[in-house]
Amino acid sequence: MSLLVIGGTGTLGRQIVLQALTKGYQVRCLVRNFRKAAFLKEWGVELVYGDLSRPETIPPCLKGITAVIDASTSRANELDSLKKVDWDGKLCLIDAAKTAKVKRFIFFSAQNAEQFNNIPLLKLKNGIEAKLQQSGIPYTIFRLTGFYQGLIEQYAIPILENLPIWVTNENTYISYMDTQDIAKFCLKALQITETENQTFFLSGSKAWVSSEIINLCEQLTDQKAKVQRVPLFILKFVSGFFGFFEWGQNISDRLAFAEILSTENNFSKSTFELYKTFKIDPSEIIQLDDYFLEYFIRLLKRLRDINFEDVQKQKNLVI
Ligand SMILES: NC(=O)c1ccc[n+]([C@@H]2O[C@H](COP(=O)([O-])OP(=O)(O)OC[C@H]3O[C@@H](n4cnc5c(N)ncnc54)[C@H](OP(=O)(O)O)[C@@H]3O)[C@@H](O)[C@H]2O)c1
Repeated sequence: MSLLVIGGTGTLGRQIVLQALTKGYQVRCLVRNFRKAAFLKEWGVELVYGDLSRPETIPPCLKGITAVIDASTSRANELDSLKKVDWDGKLCLIDAAKTAKVKRFIFFSAQNAEQFNNIPLLKLKNGIEAKLQQSGIPYTIFRLTGFYQGLIEQYAIPILENLPIWVTNENTYISYMDTQDIAKFCLKALQITETENQTFFLSGSKAWVSSEIINLCEQLTDQKAKVQRVPLFILKFVSGFFGFFEWGQNISDRLAFAEILSTENNFSKSTFELYKTFKIDPSEIIQLDDYFLEYFIRLLKRLRDINFEDVQKQKNLVI
């Protein structure tokens, strides 16, 4: 089976690529910058040039492809790319996949997307879900929660750098996931026919509230966090303010994401069924405490290595 991955350089996409290669799939990645994607080539991926904001570049990438895995989304720092990438580009991708008669199209949406039609990214995700469902292409849609990887920037780094951690007043439990585990579900979907033409809410096996994550980081780093609480209504106001301007749409979307995540998961009850369908034992899933522990251990080792290298350099200078 030959796979076309879009977004292979991204946080989730690279995990999908890595696991797909390990399982022996032929992997092609649609990328817009070969230099940035050089690491994928080193792993054994075939790179093809494509840019979702340039629709004419998409169809040639699908030649000989059996399944499409779309893990792409517009980058927050590319201000006018939201509609071009997450709507126009994706519509063109679906059309091209239909013409190429692909056997499966995997798309990543977001949890509670249907409740947030006022947020442009979520509205587009919702629209693409519908277009894919109507396309006649066998599909699997995963509605995702937040990634562990995002928590490093939100909690771990501010604690280490003695910077404030911004949290809302809501005490919402969220079942974050490691992208390695999301990738596991994604690749299982290719092998399990019951996942065809289905939409799944993907969530981790344990839900966390922000104060628990802060406590965990404090214990692991032996440092006290500086917590700044911002009421959700202020976040909504700031997000609305930016969204008023066209240039601010992307910023507004990212801020609004905090609002989406602060809406209680409605899928924790079905988690058991989900793991059963995908034949994944919940004990295989990486837990947040283990993820953070490994992160801090690796970081400490790196700091020790840098320190060691500095001492060696100084010794060499003295000699
Ligand atoms: N992060 C979360 O917490 C979260 C939560 C719910 C759902 N999701 C969804 O999960 C999926 C993966 O998210 P992620 O956080 O892993 O994404 P990410 O790290 O931001 O990566 C985005 C990917 O899309 C590619 N891309 C952007 N613009 C492109 C264009 N014009 N043409 C071709 N490729 C383009 C990027 O390529 P370059 O490297 O060239 O920029 C990159 O590979 C997305 O659909 C996202 O909406 C994410």
